[in-house]
Amino acid sequence: MNGITIVGTGHYVPGNPVLNEALARVMDTSDEWIRSRTGIQQRYFAEDGQGPSDLALPACKSALNNAQIDASDVDYIIFATMTPDHFFPGSGALLGSKLGIHGVPALDIRQQCAAIPYALQLANGLVQSGAAETILLVGAEVHAGFMPWVDWDIVRSQAEREVAPEAYARANRHRGLAVVFGDGAAAMVLRASDTPDRGFVAAELHSDGSAFDHLFVPGVGFRRIPYVTPEALEADEHIPQMRGPSLLKKAVQTLSRTVRSICEIQGISQADIDCFIPHQANDRINRAVRDALKIPPEKIPSNIARFGNTSAATIGILTDELRREGRIREGDLLCFLGIGAGLNWGVALMRL
Ligand code: UT7
Repeated sequence: MNGITIVGTGHYVPGNPVLNEALARVMDTSDEWIRSRTGIQQRYFAEDGQGPSDLALPACKSALNNAQIDASDVDYIIFATMTPDHFFPGSGALLGSKLGIHGVPALDIRQQCAAIPYALQLANGLVQSGAAETILLVGAEVHAGFMPWVDWDIVRSQAEREVAPEAYARANRHRGLAVVFGDGAAAMVLRASDTPDRGFVAAELHSDGSAFDHLFVPGVGFRRIPYVTPEALEADEHIPQMRGPSLLKKAVQTLSRTVRSICEIQGISQADIDCFIPHQANDRINRAVRDALKIPPEKIPSNIARFGNTSAATIGILTDELRREGRIREGDLLCFLGIGAGLNWGVALMRL
């Protein structure tokens, strides 16, 4: 059987864009700093009460519509998120019922920003083994819940009032993390390719838990009894901690190395890759990978300016945009690459 290919894509982001200037109202940052250090100009945030399965629903409907298939044709859901609707159950089951496809297996995966290379390998295996025929792969995130400010009226609508000094100081302690993430969802419909020599080629995946402290949530977890306490919340231990500069270096090294390695193992020249679709954590990471691998700029697109880092949703949002703009087409060799909390990182190759 041929490897899986993408037969439909869609994405969805909630509400209106939040500009860098709005974040500069609630903590000591600036549009200039955020743009020059990350490439981000705006991001979106979900409303209170809106979970990743809610963002995933319109993204999935759009992908199914794009694939011209009905939700009832989906026989497997893979839901990638690090910000699930509930601590448990996973968001995949919730999404299945929202789509009206009760009973379809739904598997949540937690590879964070590296989710898509992992999920493509998984989906390919499920299809090859006969366990599934039509897979809905979703990445959806609501990071709003761990943002360090309380003044959402200022962030969302630039309300004209001052921020309390304590609130400003608290948000400021997390400013490196807070400026990079945004919310969104993306979906891909995956099926075995009809054409020989097309579809999923290979993935190279890695995890290294010894570096988990590069990006993790220190409190709120089952190492503690009870797993969440008022003290942990008071100490902001529900907000992720990130060793940004070290993670940035690791991202450049591991992604460049893994692309080289998979190409060598598969006997593929990097020049044969038509499009690199990288996770969007920081434009500086992707520019450094581009330089290290000597990739022509037009072959490694970026949309971080408009969305920020949407973790598991990122690669899917970019893929959907590229397909709809005709920038990736049937026959193209695609290289998906990402690194995230875990640490997990990976690269997947697919010929559309
Ligand atoms: O998606 C999962 C994977 N995630 C990543 O790969 C993230 C990788 N890391 C990054 O993207 C970057 O490290 C950040 C964007 C998070 C931070 O950028 P940086 O260039 O590494 O900044 P830094 O943390 O080294 O901080 C440099 C300076 C510091 O000030 P001093 O000590 O030099 O006076 C920070 O306090 O910039 C300051 N700073 C800020 N200033 C204004 C940190 N965050 C901000 C901010 N606004 N938001």
